[in-house]
Amino acid sequence: MNLTNSKLSGRRDFLKLAGGTAAAIGFPTIIPARVLGADAPSKKITVGCIGVGWQGGSNLGGFLGLGDCQVVAICDVDDGHLNGAVGEVNKRYGNQDCKAYKDFRELIARKDIDAVCISTPDHWHAIPAICAAEAGKDIFCEKPLSHTLAEGIAMVRAVKKNQRIWQTGSWQRSQATFRWAAELVQNGYLGKVTRVEVGLPSGHADFAGSGNGKPDGTPPPGVDYEMWTGPARMMPFNPSRFHKNWRWNYNYGGGQLMDWIGHHCDIAHWGLVNPEFGCGPDDAVGPLEVSATAEFPAKDAVWNTATKYRVECKYPNNIEMVIAGGYGEIAGGAKWIGPNGWISVDRGRFTASNVDWIREVQALEKKDGLKIALYKSPGHVREFLDSIKSRKRTLTPVEIAHRSQTPGHLGNIAALTGRKLKWDAAKEEIVGDAAATALMSSPVRAPWSDRKHWTK
Ligand SMILES: NC(=O)c1ccc[n+]([C@@H]2O[C@H](COP(=O)([O-])OP(=O)(O)OC[C@H]3O[C@@H](n4cnc5c(N)ncnc54)[C@H](O)[C@@H]3O)[C@@H](O)[C@H]2O)c1
Repeated sequence: MNLTNSKLSGRRDFLKLAGGTAAAIGFPTIIPARVLGADAPSKKITVGCIGVGWQGGSNLGGFLGLGDCQVVAICDVDDGHLNGAVGEVNKRYGNQDCKAYKDFRELIARKDIDAVCISTPDHWHAIPAICAAEAGKDIFCEKPLSHTLAEGIAMVRAVKKNQRIWQTGSWQRSQATFRWAAELVQNGYLGKVTRVEVGLPSGHADFAGSGNGKPDGTPPPGVDYEMWTGPARMMPFNPSRFHKNWRWNYNYGGGQLMDWIGHHCDIAHWGLVNPEFGCGPDDAVGPLEVSATAEFPAKDAVWNTATKYRVECKYPNNIEMVIAGGYGEIAGGAKWIGPNGWISVDRGRFTASNVDWIREVQALEKKDGLKIALYKSPGHVREFLDSIKSRKRTLTPVEIAHRSQTPGHLGNIAALTGRKLKWDAAKEEIVGDAAATALMSSPVRAPWSDRKHWTK
């Protein structure tokens, strides 16, 4: 979402840009045999990490803890993060083999890398992910899937076309309490769900200790700020919208709504994919109508993302969903409501109107007694590696991550336009509203607006 510089370019711009044929951008169109399941890697899975800041450091730790993969390359545009991560990898393996890159295109061009882990800021997910898919890599990428809806649509297409394994950083699906909650809902304990409440944080949080509204300055030594900005609009360097705190400016992130939508709306959707009374299938779940209100700081504020918001969605099967930040009556996490009661889950909290259900789902799981039993993850990174070998889809494939973030992007667009949006979830189109449709995309800055610069 680009609040200040929307050229009403529409979804077509990014899709057209991303949709260049593999041949046109220099990748072979032949799909490697192992992609088709014939020859899963028997050796260690080689991994390259792109973006090793806050979450990227944590993801790197996940890979380093698993013996059947080896991190062979790190890319970051900040020398401090880059050198720290390379040092950590080399210390872990007791060698000097991990290579450092400041340009992700060079890492992706390496033929000996099986998988990449993308933990860059939101404005930098789509291009590396699409390039990695087209280069035949499997991909672990952070939530929210993309910075705009058009990017998300393009990412899904690229991953499917190239038959890549994809895991999203929506790790809550790998946690037992979230799985049990979704299992209870899918198994009909509530009856037909009528309402879902998704509670997300409000305001801003100073994650980097940089404060809000510092004056513009010069990038720290060792930072390639041109590459950090990438496809986003070039703005003067400002320490308050750099590492971690970029998420509070729409040029790079989507505020609390988009920071959390890939976690709690993802779980809310998980409960709703029951074919009998939900909104499934899970790769097509989506609202029919979205309206929203939000409180925004000034457009040119350093932290300009909504501080309070309320998104009201109408889903198929007469299910209403509210996604809110800053409304005390909407509890944090996901809450499903039906004729038989309610179930609510958040980090560190799993409650229900009938607490017997919580005991029951765990007891039934132990004896394989659940009619609908969801996959029990061995751990989020572990599951990704297992899927690379089996070529079976992960718990959070790209199409699910995209559907999980869609109500957030639509909510932002509805709040900005002040209109109720009609959403065609099958075609992924806003119906009859050209100005809102234009906000599904944002301008891509040169040189990234020219597809030939996406690879080296
Ligand atoms: N799954 C979770 O629980 C979770 C938690 C926090 C953040 N995240 C997500 O992780 C992503 C990163 O967030 P963060 O808080 O770690 O941000 P961060 O600012 O701490 O780290 C981002 C890193 O990416 C690097 N970077 C920027 N542009 C780059 C480029 N072109 N090539 C290589 N490196 C580049 C930065 O220098 C920095 O080291 C975001 O998408 C965020 O939403 C997920």
